[in-house]
Amino acid sequence: MAELTKLESKLAEVLGLAQAAQGATDKIAKLVEEEDEQIAQTLRRMHEEAAETEQRATDVAGELDGKKTAILDKARETKGEATEMMSTYLGDDAEGLDGLEFLIMAEAGETGHWEILGKLNERAGQADVRELVDWALPIQQRHFEQARECSLQLAGEEDPNEVE
Ligand SMILES: [Fe+2]
Repeated sequence: MAELTKLESKLAEVLGLAQAAQGATDKIAKLVEEEDEQIAQTLRRMHEEAAETEQRATDVAGELDGKKTAILDKARETKGEATEMMSTYLGDDAEGLDGLEFLIMAEAGETGHWEILGKLNERAGQADVRELVDWALPIQQRHFEQARECSLQLAGEEDPNEVE
C-alpha cells in the first residue's frame, strides 16, 4: 500500500467527508420532509453538491501518481467513522431538528478540514489541489450557514411547551 503524505491524507479525509455528507443529507432530508419541504429541498441541493465534491476530489486523487487507491481506501475509512458518528447521534427517535443539529457539526467539521487542506497546500503548492479548495471551501461555508439557518427556522416553528 502506498504511503500517503499529510496533504494526500487530508485530501482523502475531505473526500470521505463528502461521501458521508451525501448519506447525512439524505437521512436528514427524510427526517425534515414532513415538517418543512423547503428545508428538505435545501438538503437535497446540498446532497448534489456533496456528490460533485466527491467527484472533483476523486479526479484530483487520480492525478496523484500511484496514490489513488490508497487515498480512496483512507476516504472510505473516514466516511465510515463519520457515518458511525451520525448513527450514534441520531437514534431511532431522532426528529428533523436533531438531524439539523448534527448537520451543523458535520458541516463545521467539513469546513475546517477544507481550510486545513488549503493551509497544507500553501507550502505544497499543487495547482489542482488549490483549484479544488478554492471551489469547495465557499460551498462548505455556505453549507454550514444553511445548516444553521435551517435549524433556527425549524426551531422557530416548534412549540417550546410540547412534551418530548
Ligand atoms: Fe458540505
